[in-house]
Amino acid sequence: MEQALTIADLKERARRRVPKMFFEYADSGAWTEGTYRANEEDFHKIKLRQRVLVDMSNRSLETEMIGEKVSMPVALAPTGFTGMQHADGEMLAAQAAEEFGVPFTLSTMSICSIEDVRSVTTKPFWFQLYVMQDKDFVYNLIDRAKAAGCSALVLTLDLQILGQRHKDIRNGLSAPPRFTPKHLWQMATRPFWCLDMLGTKRHTFGNIVGHAKGVTDLSSLSSWTSEQFDPQLSWKDIEWIRDRWGGKLILKGILDEEDARMSLGSGADAIIVSNHGGRQLDGAASSIDMLPRIVDAVGDKMEVHLDGGIRSGQDVLKAICYGAKGTYIGRPFLYGLGAGGKAGVRRALEIIRKELDVTMALCGERDIKNLSRKNLLGDA
Ligand code: GLV
Repeated sequence: MEQALTIADLKERARRRVPKMFFEYADSGAWTEGTYRANEEDFHKIKLRQRVLVDMSNRSLETEMIGEKVSMPVALAPTGFTGMQHADGEMLAAQAAEEFGVPFTLSTMSICSIEDVRSVTTKPFWFQLYVMQDKDFVYNLIDRAKAAGCSALVLTLDLQILGQRHKDIRNGLSAPPRFTPKHLWQMATRPFWCLDMLGTKRHTFGNIVGHAKGVTDLSSLSSWTSEQFDPQLSWKDIEWIRDRWGGKLILKGILDEEDARMSLGSGADAIIVSNHGGRQLDGAASSIDMLPRIVDAVGDKMEVHLDGGIRSGQDVLKAICYGAKGTYIGRPFLYGLGAGGKAGVRRALEIIRKELDVTMALCGERDIKNLSRKNLLGDA
C-alpha cells in the first residue's frame, strides 16, 4: 500500500481488483457526468497563497465536526454498495475510520447492516437515512441507529428519485450480482475479490432485506428507489424525523442559497453542501463553487460541511478556507477499500492527511482552525 502515493493510484489498483460493475458504480455520475467532473475540476481553479519565513512547527489538523473531536476534518461519506467494493466493506471502513479518528457514515443502502458495523466498532458512527414511503420501516431504521449508539443522523435530501447513471444500466448493476455470462466473466477476472466474497455471507442490502415488509430479495437500486422512496418528502418531514431521532442531525444535499437559508429553521446541526457526487442533477453547479455562497447565506448560525470532488488534502484545505467546518470523502475511500480492504482505506486517509498537513505548512499556517479565505489567492 505504501507504493500508492495518491488517490489516483488507489483508483487504478481498485480498477484492477473490483469487478467492473461495482468499480463503475463508484466511478460514475448522472447523464453526461458534467457535474461529476466539475466537482473535481473546480477545485483546481482555486489558487493558494504561498507564505514563507513563518514558524511552521507543531502543526495541528485536529478540530471538531458537530461537536465531535476529529483528527482532521474529513469524514467518510455514506456510499451505497460499499460491501461490494470489498467483502464486509462497511465494517472494514468503519474500523479504519475509528482508528484514524474520523467519522464513518453508514449508508441506508449499505451491504453490512447497522448492527454488523456496531459489532466491530467501539465508538459511535454516523448513520445516513433515506426516507421511504413505508414509514414504519423508516421509524425502525431510526430506532435501530439509536439502539446502535449512532451519534449523528445524516438525512439525504437530494435522492428521492434516482438520477440516471448510464454505466449502472449498461452493467446490469445489482447486489448480489447476477450470474449471467457477462457478470460471471467480470467476477472471474477478479479472483481475489471473489475469494474474499466467498468468506462472507453479506451479499445484499443488510439494512433492508429482512427488515422492510415484504422485501426478501432486493437487488436493483433503481427499482427499489422508484417503488419505495417518498417523492413527497418536504421540510415538514424534517420535524418528525428530528423528534423521533432526538440527536444530532445533518442535512445532506443542500446546493442552493435559498435552501440553505430555509435549513436554518429546521433545527439541524449542520448542512452538507452536496450534489450527491454529481450522481443526481447533472448540470448542477459543483459543490466547491456553491460553498462560499452558502457559507455567506447561513453565516455562523449553522455548521456547513462539503462533499463532492475531494481527491486530495489540498481540496480539503480549500473547502476549509472557504468556511466548511468539515468535508466528506466517498470515492477516495472506496478506491482504497477496493484496492486493499481496511489497509487501503487507511492509506486513503494517510494520503489526504499528509497532503493537507504539508499544504497547510506551505501556506504558512500551523493550525487548521486558523485557515480562512485569506489563504486563497484573490479571495482575501
Ligand atoms: C446512492 O446513494 C447512489 O448515489 O448510488
